[in-house]
Amino acid sequence: MAPTRLTSVDEIPENGSYLFTVRESHGSKEEVILVKQPDCVEAWKNFCQHETDQRLDRGMGVAMREGEIICPKHGSMFDACSGDCDNGKAEGLSLVPVDISVNRGVVYLTDDACEFLHEGGIDADDDMPGSSSHLQF
Ligand code: FES
Repeated sequence: MAPTRLTSVDEIPENGSYLFTVRESHGSKEEVILVKQPDCVEAWKNFCQHETDQRLDRGMGVAMREGEIICPKHGSMFDACSGDCDNGKAEGLSLVPVDISVNRGVVYLTDDACEFLHEGGIDADDDMPGSSSHLQF
């Protein structure tokens, strides 16, 4: 699969994240966050390892302090560059990486298991299981 241009490094917030949605090879949609620090640009699947239904970026960018992504639920902090957590309820766990590359200040999605769909999170009308749970049968 050809690399897909995601955004420029300059457009990734210093203390936040650039959120986008991919389709995984098995067909389901997944949110991914791009983060940057002075020494890295990384992409992680947008969920905590303590409770995997907990999003790290809930649409306003991740909370970040001193290079660590803060889980909004229980406050575990993940190293933005390594994805590792050494504290709190997610201690010993690591975020799930998504392959990207950076070339001349532009970030490309290079993960063979992920097809870029759109910027932002999974839309309310995306065809995720449960997305139509407001319908009553
Ligand atoms: S859900 Fe993230 S630390 Fe508990």
